[in-house]
Formats: sequence, structure tokens, C-alpha cells
Amino acid sequence: MPDASASSLPSAQPDLAARDVKHVWHPCSQMRDYEGFPPLEIIGAQGCHLHLRDGRKLIDAVSSWWCKSLGHGHPRLKAALARQLDRFEHVILANTTNDVIVRLSERLAALAPGLNHVFYSGDGSTAVEVAAKLALHARKIQGGGQSRFLALENGYHGETALTLALGDLGLYREAYREVLPPVSYLRGLPYVDSVDHPLWKDCSSVWPGLEKQLRENLAGLCAVVIEPILQGAGGMRFYSADFLRRLRAWTKAHGVILIADEILTGFGRTGTMLACDHAGIVADIVCLSKGLTAGWLPMSATLVSDDLYGMFYAEYGRGRDFLHSNTYAGNPLAAAVALEAMEIYREEDILGQVRRTGPLLAAAMDRVAQATGRLHNLRCVGAVVAADLRGPGTGSGTRAGYRVYREAVGRGALLRTLGDTVYWLLPLNAGSGVISELEGITTASIRAVLG
Ligand SMILES: Cc1ncc(COP(=O)(O)O)c(C=O)c1O
Repeated sequence: MPDASASSLPSAQPDLAARDVKHVWHPCSQMRDYEGFPPLEIIGAQGCHLHLRDGRKLIDAVSSWWCKSLGHGHPRLKAALARQLDRFEHVILANTTNDVIVRLSERLAALAPGLNHVFYSGDGSTAVEVAAKLALHARKIQGGGQSRFLALENGYHGETALTLALGDLGLYREAYREVLPPVSYLRGLPYVDSVDHPLWKDCSSVWPGLEKQLRENLAGLCAVVIEPILQGAGGMRFYSADFLRRLRAWTKAHGVILIADEILTGFGRTGTMLACDHAGIVADIVCLSKGLTAGWLPMSATLVSDDLYGMFYAEYGRGRDFLHSNTYAGNPLAAAVALEAMEIYREEDILGQVRRTGPLLAAAMDRVAQATGRLHNLRCVGAVVAADLRGPGTGSGTRAGYRVYREAVGRGALLRTLGDTVYWLLPLNAGSGVISELEGITTASIRAVLG
């Protein structure tokens, strides 16, 4: 990929970071932190790299919040966007259609058998909110009115009130506790560190305890909401495919809706197109975003089963109209990019690339762990590898992860940590050179912070 050329740089704005913090409230940040560590001024991004005003080049080790699955500036996605820009940029999706949205919907419907109906919105949180609303509404239509949700320990599903409630992360949820609906969480999940772990294929030893919790929660249960296989924000943990298979069987047997939040995992991140494919299961509702447009434009999609869709298909005004609306639903620019991304995933054999990259990531992180002696619980699935900082100087109140992040920026990588969890979530097409560079940066950064 070409570097941002010096001649094309806009003129220097030395006070930009100072102007930024006066008015820009950055997401998921304590703004005071920027006093000591100002926001990085980006002037370009290409492939796995971000280009900074001061001439530095950083590896985007978190794919810009897990969405840049094909890296920055992919020429085919740029061309697809330009083609659509020449046609029309946005038209209301209620009452209109166009070839791009129809072709994209056909492609998405082909991802999972029986999920033939695609509801569009703008971000991952809204896709899950739509899924939860659909489930509640469907239960009303059925006449049961079950309204309770069960989710997984350490889960994360977004930032709207309902999706915050579905998440099990107090850090994000606590301030709003009083207004969030009560949700129960399944605890004691069969976490694994690799697909070779015995629990991956057979979790019969822990299933009885999990099934007991499911039974205890059955009364009034509307839906079970999960991040299939990989839980991102909750610490890059992954769990048994056999558990997922059993959970699907249990929800089916008890008429409970299963919602799979594949916002992080969709489009190859865990080594299969959907993470549910690891267990050979299909959920009733699947939520997609991030990799949907390969991180180019905000778009999300909620895939819905024929059975659920059928419940809403009725004469208008009988309580079966799903009247959720977001202004930019199905935005044609995003749809055009998404359609092209789907082509690239297939033509560039993105799953094959993940199969080759996964072992390289695991081996490299293992070497970091050996070299520093400070990483524990190393785990890897698909193109994600993670491990936890341990020992003196880590844990509650130390901000060890944040300090490693700052060191890593100084050494050439945007390596955002999750608390004390260090992880790499590079673009799916990252090469071995980037991985070994990241290995060196991570090792040096951990050493600099923890000795
Ligand atoms: C599993 C999962 N669900 C939902 C979301 C929320 O998506 P968004 O940030 O686009 O609202 C995220 C974001 O990281 C996620 O990882």
C-alpha cells in the first residue's frame, strides 16, 4: 500500500490537539487523560497503518475499534463508494428501493439458512436494540408477553439503554443502573484458550450447571442474547462451540428466541463467516455491523428468521407493524461499500487468510509472554489473540494496560488495551511483517511499564 505522500499533506496545524480538547468529547475516554497524552493527529491511513502529523506511522492493532477488517484505504472499496456517489447518496428506505440494497440483502440472507429478512440501521448498538425490540414484540404477538432477557456473563452489546442492560459490564452500565431493565446472566461459561481445548468440542462436564440456570430463568423468558464464541469488550474471552450448540438446542426446545450479536465476530473474525458457524447453528436473529462495510461507513443489519418475520406480516394496525425507523437505514453509500466488501471477502479468500494468520498471531503473542514473563492466560481464536497482564504493578487502580498503550504509541502501535488485557485485532489481511513488528513493540512496551 502506498504511504501518504508528503506533498499531499495539508498544511501544519500545530495547535490542533489543543483546539481538539476544547470542543471534542472523545468516545470511551476520560477527557482529563488527554492533558498528559493529547489525541494523535491523523493525516492518513493505509493498509494496517495510521499516519500522524509528526511523521510517525502507527500499526492500527485494534482495526480502529474492530471494524477495519480489510485495512484502511482498500482501493476496491474506495472505487465502489465513488461509483455510488456518482449515482445518489441517500434516499429514504421506507417506500423506496434500489438495486444496491436488494443485492446486498440477497447476499446477507445467504449467510445463514432461514434468515431471509434484513432490517437496516446505523450502528451495532441499534442493530441489537432492533433485535431485542423484535423479540419483545414477537412475544406480544404470540400472546405470551414474555419480557425478560437472559444474557452471558462478561457480555457486551452496545450503548443504548436496552443494550447496556444486556451487557454484563458494570464499568459501562453502573451510572445508569436505576433506569435499565433487569437482565439475568448465565455464569460459569466454559471458556477455552484455543480450539484444541477439550471443552471446545465437548462441554458436557459443565453443561448441567448451565442448564440448571437456564431452567431457573425460563419463566417469562423472551430471548437469550449472546456474543457467539468471542466476547470482545468483556476481555477478548472465547468459549466452547459445544456450549453454543447446546444453548441453541435448549432455546429451540423451550421456544426461546436466540439472538446472536455478531457485530464483532461477523465476516471472518473468528475464522468462520459467522461465529455461529463454529457450532453449526443458526440463531433466530443475527446482528451485524463493523465488518459489514469493512469499517468504511456506519451501517448495521439485523437478520431475522422467516418464522419471526411471518409473525409481523399482517394487515396494518393490528399490533403487528414493526415501526422502528432510523433516518439513515440502508444508506446507499454504505450499502455499495458493503456489497463490494462481501465480494472481496470471497475473492480474496479472507477465511483462508485468517486460517494462515491465526497461528502466527498466537505464536508471536506467546513469544511476548515468554520474553516479558508478564502475560498470562494467552488465548487465540481466528484472527484475535489476547492475554492478561499479571504480577506486581498490575490490577485494580494501576492502569497498567493504559500505560502499556501509551508506551506502545511511542514505539509505533495503536494498541488499545481492555483494562489489563492486551490484545491484537489487526485487519484480517495483515501480513507477517506487521505481526512481527507488533510483537517487538508489545514486548518493549510491557517491559517499559512493568520491568
Ligand atoms: C459485540 C458488540 N455488540 C455491539 C457493539 C456496539 O456497536 P456500536 O459501537 O457500533 O454501536 C459492539 C461494539 O464494539 C460489540 O462489540
